[in-house]
Amino acid sequence: MDTGHVDYPRTSSPARVAVIGAGYVGLTTAACLARLGNRVTAVDVDVARVKMLNDGVSPILEEGLADLLRSGLADGLLTFTTDAGSATSEADFVFLCVPTPQGGNGAADLRFVQQAATQIAPHLKTGAIVVNKSTVPVGTARSVMAALGRPDTVVVSNPEFLREGKAVYDWFNPDRVVIGSYDGAAAGRLADLYEPLGAPCLITDPASSETIKYACNAFLAAKLSFVNSVARLCDVVGADVIDVIEGMSLDRRIGANHLSPGPGWGGSCFPKDARALVHIAEVHGFEFPLLKEVISSNEAHFDWVADQLQAAAGGSLREAKVAVWGLTFKAGTDDLRDSPALAVIRRLVARGARVSAFDPTMPDESDARLSGVDIPGDPYTPCQDADVLAILTEWPDFREMDLHKVEAVMVGGSVVDTRNLLDPEEVEAAGLRYRGMGRTTAGGREDV
Ligand code: NAD
Ligand code: UGA
Repeated sequence: MDTGHVDYPRTSSPARVAVIGAGYVGLTTAACLARLGNRVTAVDVDVARVKMLNDGVSPILEEGLADLLRSGLADGLLTFTTDAGSATSEADFVFLCVPTPQGGNGAADLRFVQQAATQIAPHLKTGAIVVNKSTVPVGTARSVMAALGRPDTVVVSNPEFLREGKAVYDWFNPDRVVIGSYDGAAAGRLADLYEPLGAPCLITDPASSETIKYACNAFLAAKLSFVNSVARLCDVVGADVIDVIEGMSLDRRIGANHLSPGPGWGGSCFPKDARALVHIAEVHGFEFPLLKEVISSNEAHFDWVADQLQAAAGGSLREAKVAVWGLTFKAGTDDLRDSPALAVIRRLVARGARVSAFDPTMPDESDARLSGVDIPGDPYTPCQDADVLAILTEWPDFREMDLHKVEAVMVGGSVVDTRNLLDPEEVEAAGLRYRGMGRTTAGGREDV
């Protein structure tokens, strides 16, 4: 996406905005609000990140974000600081975009939200609207209000629904804006800030708004656990999941989105948010067995993918070499948080395999999450003497690889394509065996 040619809307009533936390959500929010014409200061505790941002360098890979960052800095509408006080003292809106990681018992850890509230409390001007954009459990709008101790300000829930890799597109084209507040005037002012986007705006009470966010992520995770199970079903009955999904997706009640089978779902949010919702339900006396099954089905799916790789390697992974293409939790992002690729790799290593991997984002081998994985920096070296090649992330680049070269260097000849990314015929034409997820092509079933 070349944002330089996109005709962005402009606000008719610019506001002063502070954004606390300049990560995937905060940086995108700050850059997009500045692009609408608002004056935005983003705050982060990470000094190196703030310096990079003020130098016009995006610390994350996100389509279109670097352009917005540079134009915001050049227009003078976007600045970055570590000083929450100076950033918030004049702000009409203060967006909280700090992490809410998984705590020990599955509950969302609200430490960063509470810290941010405490930091900004003394500086807020009367009438400021604190906007909770982090994904937080029911009741957090109230607890942030308590942490602020500023009855002359308002706390509003405003969950974010963007996808990584499409963050800028999603921010400017939301399916809906959800605002949770008991204060109609504050909700209206926040709705006005989003007005240039022309999206439907749903105003609810805070508990409903907070619940909507978790319910959406849990529902999408459930959809994926279901479709991964359908792929396994296709495998055993000899159906082709590509056709099955097409047939399902043409039913408008089901739709085509979030219906591609894979190695299991992951990322920075689905796993933690699904567990947090189970915890929220339990605290209120509801077990939510369906959601628990969605989570355990995903864990079992990682095991099943490892089983497929073990079978493709000849029945044992002890001393086997597995080449892996793809480490990020999906294509289009450099984010390794809770990546399904890493969940599968952990299982391969536990079964005795040596893993050598390539990812187009060239992750740092010293990252603790990659310990035990060899990352030579090109796609073919991992295939050298490999028993099996696993495709774990759906980077389009993998479609352009020279499969003859892959075949020439591997000792085993199997490709396990967990994203159904490659053309099975091309793989076979290169002399390799192909195994997709729920496909009836070669490597699939002939005995049914
Ligand atoms: P992130 O880890 O990418 O960024 C958070 C940033 O906040 C970090 O740079 C960190 O240094 C900074 N920070 C922490 N405490 C701070 C403080 N007190 N003051 C200033 N900065 C502080 O996180 P993220 O992925 O942007 O997620 C943020 C929230 O948004 C989470 O609740 C997440 O569940 C939710 N969310 C994320 C996505 C997504 O796609 N990543 C989408 C929707 C919602
Ligand atoms: C997800 C939601 O889609 C966003 O709406 C939400 O705002 C965000 O979580 C959040 O709360 O953080 P994201 O984690 O960026 O966004 O990624 P998704 O595109 O939803 O993918 C999540 C996982 O599901 C990935 O591992 C991906 O590979 C997998 N997936 C997705 C599939 O296996 N098949 C699909 O068809 C889609």
